Amino acid sequence: MITRKLTANLSLILLTSFALLTLFPLLGLAEDTPFRIEFVSNYQSMNFKAQENLIKKSKAIMPGEIKKLLKDAQAKGVSLGKMMFMLDAANAMAYGYDSYHGRGKRLIKKVEKILKKEIKKEEARTAKLMKWKKEERFLGNFVMKTHDKEMQKEGVAPVLYPHWVHRIWYECSVCHQELFVMKRWRNQISHKQINEGKQCGTCHDGKIAFAADNKAKCDLCHVAGKPEAERLHNAKKLDHENIAKVAKRLGSVWNDDKLENGEIPVDEHGFIDWLKLKKAGIFEPLTSLNGDYTPEVRDNEILYISKSKIKNVLFSHNVHSSWIRCSSCHPAVFKENLKNNIKMVRMTKGQNCGLCHGKVSFTFADCDRCHSIPKGETVEGALLHKGPDKKKRK
Ligand code: HEC
Ligand code: HEC
Ligand code: HEC
Ligand code: HEC
Ligand code: HEC
Ligand code: HEC
Repeated sequence: MITRKLTANLSLILLTSFALLTLFPLLGLAEDTPFRIEFVSNYQSMNFKAQENLIKKSKAIMPGEIKKLLKDAQAKGVSLGKMMFMLDAANAMAYGYDSYHGRGKRLIKKVEKILKKEIKKEEARTAKLMKWKKEERFLGNFVMKTHDKEMQKEGVAPVLYPHWVHRIWYECSVCHQELFVMKRWRNQISHKQINEGKQCGTCHDGKIAFAADNKAKCDLCHVAGKPEAERLHNAKKLDHENIAKVAKRLGSVWNDDKLENGEIPVDEHGFIDWLKLKKAGIFEPLTSLNGDYTPEVRDNEILYISKSKIKNVLFSHNVHSSWIRCSSCHPAVFKENLKNNIKMVRMTKGQNCGLCHGKVSFTFADCDRCHSIPKGETVEGALLHKGPDKKKRK
């Protein structure tokens, strides 16, 4: 009876630990003792017999081994995965000790207390991460919190940068790549630079837009997670009057009298349909801050004949280059030819078309907006995407 219960107990521990075991076959720490290494290796090979023998002959050292393992698990610099694995192993040791030698309840309690505490901490960490993810639920909202500690010290919330709001007055070419490289966290944005009139401070100087060093305005940017941020997650909550006022001040065009029912056109996900806005002549953003740049438009289209059943894709150089500088796409994102290796899997990782789509432009859920050309249909004048040379594909 007792042995059966014990086996069940051990296999339970073995099972729950299995996923982690495959990740950490051995602890690989300098402090690893012969007992620890053997215990983990028996674990991994599910060798009950060897484990039983090891536990039986190790009565004297096991309490010390368990305490040491707990200490090592909680040492500085141990990764989360490794720590959880070590705590799990300590748990198994404590159960093993109690089953064979008795009087292990206090050890078990000790391990479980730490495990519970760490699991709680992990849950809090996840919730915190999810909180910021939620703040980016509206396409084109970026939470900026690389200086989290300094912001906490100063008593301000992280920044919610409404990338999309800025697009109403400014074309991509205003900011990219002159003020910001088109990639998150590449610009090392900080208040020091902002106060020197760089980055956001190029405009947030009290003239073009509210000043970043104005104590009354901190919360306009440091708003992530606050109820006031709610309106930045909904195109319908735009303050049209303010947009018109700012457009007038900046010299961009905003014809809200042309809006259907006075509402911003949105797609099925509630995200702004920027092309509709443009085609209807509702807005015309500035293309540069000082009027020193006129878009260079490449007026052609590229057709992608997909090998799968899905409709073919049409890419308009015209649409893209009228908003975006050539240098934002060439040569870093696409080589200036028709042989780039463009694949959905790459896009979902933020490469090629996925640099913008799904981040600041319409998402991949809108298959038909890209896959718009029925199979067999030709598009007059369109260039044909060739794909990479065969030998290079490997
Ligand atoms: C008012 C300035 C401004 C305008 C206008 C602007 N952007 Fe950005 N963009 C930024 C900033 C700031 C970032 C974030 C940079 C960072 O985190 O270091 C960014 C980031 C990006 C990213 C990176 C996304 C990622 O997940 O890595 C892309 C892509 C992008 N912008 C595309 C565009 C496109 C396309 C347009 C025009 C339709 C545009 N931007 C207009 C300021 C602007
Ligand atoms: C090219 C100029 C420009 C740059 C660069 C710029 N902004 Fe703005 N921003 C504006 C203008 C203009 C407004 C509208 C101001 C107003 O409402 O009076 C604005 C408005 C805002 C708003 C308020 C949006 C709302 O509706 O509540 C926030 C928040 C903001 N900017 C944050 C930032 C941050 C953060 C950066 C840097 C990452 C930045 N901006 C870079 C021009 C710019
Ligand atoms: C125009 C938008 C904007 C305004 C207004 C603004 N900030 Fe910031 N602030 C930022 C951005 C962007 C960062 C960098 C975010 C990051 O850490 O990724 C930042 C960072 C900070 C930091 C972190 C330390 C550092 O050097 O980056 C502190 C502290 C801070 N802001 C305080 C304030 C205070 C106080 C005010 C009001 C006087 C204010 N901010 C107004 C955009 C703004
Ligand atoms: C939004 C990104 C983007 C922008 C902006 C852009 N291109 Fe392209 N370009 C592409 C893509 C995508 C291809 C096709 C890649 C493929 O099919 O392998 C391409 C292909 C090309 C080619 C080869 C095919 C052709 O059209 O002859 C040239 C040349 C080129 N681009 C020049 C330019 C110039 C000049 C500009 C600015 C006026 C520009 N591109 C702006 C994305 C862009
Ligand atoms: C540098 C940013 C960027 C890249 C890279 C990019 N796009 Fe776009 N694309 C945009 C922007 C901005 C719009 C305007 C609509 C929006 O923002 O939602 C747009 C619009 C479109 C449209 C709508 C055009 C229309 O006439 O309705 C299609 C289709 C499209 N893109 C396909 C692609 C394809 C396919 C690729 C890759 C070969 C690609 N885009 C790469 C930024 C980009
Ligand atoms: C931003 C534009 C864009 C959107 C949105 C988009 N695709 Fe694509 N897709 C492409 C491009 C460009 C290709 C490359 C065409 C080629 O040469 O095969 C492609 C290729 C494909 C392929 C061929 C195999 C592969 O993986 O490259 C399939 C299947 C596909 N897309 C399915 C989808 C589905 C399903 C959706 C919607 C969930 C979707 N796509 C949304 C642009 C897009």
